[in-house]
Amino acid sequence: SYRIAVFASGQGSNFQALVESSRAGKLGSTEIVLLVCDKPQAPVVERARQAGVDTFLFTPKGYARREDYEAEIVAELEKHQVDLIVLAGYMRLLTSVLVEPYAGKMINIHPSLLPAFPGKDAIGQAWEYGVKVTGVTVHLVDGGMDTGTVVAQEAVPLLPDDDIQTLEDRIHQAEKRLYPQVVSWFASGRVIVEGRKVTVRQ
Ligand code: GAR
Repeated sequence: SYRIAVFASGQGSNFQALVESSRAGKLGSTEIVLLVCDKPQAPVVERARQAGVDTFLFTPKGYARREDYEAEIVAELEKHQVDLIVLAGYMRLLTSVLVEPYAGKMINIHPSLLPAFPGKDAIGQAWEYGVKVTGVTVHLVDGGMDTGTVVAQEAVPLLPDDDIQTLEDRIHQAEKRLYPQVVSWFASGRVIVEGRKVTVRQ
C-alpha cells in the first residue's frame, strides 16, 4: 500500500479528513502510518490516538538546531517506509535535511490562492485586503514559506453576507475536498513532476 505521514501543529481537521477519506476507500490502497507533530498538546495528537495512527512528537526548544530534530523525523519516516509527506497546518519551515530526500514527495496545503497571502493567517490577510475571490492551494514543498510548485488550486468566492467566520468555514470545506483528492492522485501515480512543472495525468 501507499504510505503517508501527516505533519501537523494544531487542530488537525485536515488530518481527520484524510483519515476519513482513507477509511472510506477514497484514497485507493493508502494508509496513514504516522503523525509528526511539534506541539505535543495539540488537538491533532488526540485525533491520531483515536485513529490508531503512530505519532512522533517533539518539542523544538529541546534541540539546538532545526536540522537535529529533522534528522530524527527522517529516521522515523524511514522506519515507517513513508512514500508521501502531507503537511496539514505544520507551522514550521523545513531544512534540506527533510526537503532534499523527499523532493517531489512532500506537499503542503495553504488557505489562499498562492502566491497571494503566504505565511500565517492567510484567511485574515485576504479578508483585510478585501479580495473578492480567494481559495486553497496544494503545492510541493521546498525550503521557503508556502513556496514550491503548485499542484492544484480551488477558488473560493466571497459572498455579500460573509463575515470572516463564514469565509473561513467555506475555505476549510474546500480544503477538505481538495486535499484528499490530491493525495489520491499521488497514490495512484498520476502526478508527474518535471522541475517546476507538475502535470496530473487523467
Ligand atoms: C489549514 O487551514 C491549513 O491550510 C493552514 O493551517 C490550517 C490547519 O488547520 N496552513 C497554513 O496556513 C500553512 N501556511 P487544521 O489543523 O485544522 O488542519
